[in-house]
Amino acid sequence: MRAVSDEDLRVDVHLGPEDFRAALEADVRSGLASTPKSIPPVWFYDEVGSALFEDITSLAEYYPTRAERALLEEHAPAIATIARADTLVELGAGACAKTRVLLDAMVGAGELERYLPFDVSDEFLREAAGELRADYPGIDIHAVVGDFHRHLDRIPRKGRRLIAFLGGTIGNFTPEERRRFYFDLNTTMDPGDHLLLGTDLVKDTARIVAAYDDAAGVTAAFNRNVLTVLNRELDADFDPAAFDHVATWNAEEAWIEMRLRARSPQRVHVRALDLAVEFDGGEDLLTEISAKFTADGLSAELEAADFVLDGVWGAGDGEFLLTVAHPYC
Ligand code: AVJ
Repeated sequence: MRAVSDEDLRVDVHLGPEDFRAALEADVRSGLASTPKSIPPVWFYDEVGSALFEDITSLAEYYPTRAERALLEEHAPAIATIARADTLVELGAGACAKTRVLLDAMVGAGELERYLPFDVSDEFLREAAGELRADYPGIDIHAVVGDFHRHLDRIPRKGRRLIAFLGGTIGNFTPEERRRFYFDLNTTMDPGDHLLLGTDLVKDTARIVAAYDDAAGVTAAFNRNVLTVLNRELDADFDPAAFDHVATWNAEEAWIEMRLRARSPQRVHVRALDLAVEFDGGEDLLTEISAKFTADGLSAELEAADFVLDGVWGAGDGEFLLTVAHPYC
């Protein structure tokens, strides 16, 4: 692990450029060889992809960000009172806007000392941490670069922690990955620590599908950008314009599937891997699942993973759900 400090900002790097590269290579090799072909959503988020996601969050059709933000604004004080945490850990540290709502509530509760953002992107963390530092001068910021499928045990166990995993990002995990994630997290939590989870809820299908297939085509551009990432990073020759953006609701699994569908037969070379890949006309590359939950289903899976629920906000006919829980012991 590499630790870099400048003044009061410390950054622990558990996922360096070499690990990043090795993970991309492994994901592409196995994903393009499987049926259906797939690539994990983490590779959307280069600089362009992260900016496109920011654009998505303000689209009329993309309700989750606004719904979660409204819930946080209303309930962050109650959440801070339950958690009584001196440390905010943020997994997949997203846009600062929602972080600030939580930080403000925790400052209001009088005990905040430390902010620990955790993300795969080094640059992103430094930028976000730098901005927050100016506005929260007394708060110690300790950023951790890692992958939440592998490095949860590296998150410092200092203080009484509120571990926030927001934005509905847990929806990108398969049920098996979620079980694994809850287990890993549970075993790294100390008595007094709490988990704050943000999850999107099952609702009218047309509304969900529209959130992933907006009229302006921003989500389509976000989806195709993964091909640009592969072209640049692995010297591949995908033609992004030869793939259609497809978003479909899988009712059985209760998740949205985003795919890139070849408009005609494609032969693609991934030169860095010395790999040739064929797509039939109409063949799909699965790029993301985004699972939607029911309040009861989520409670049941958290309880099955040995969590005790402290509070649930946004259930009923709500659009989005915030859940606070702690490990049973
Ligand atoms: C950032 C993973 C929560 O699944 O809704 C947005 C990503 N994909 N539009 C989501 C996304 C397409 C987003 N998460």
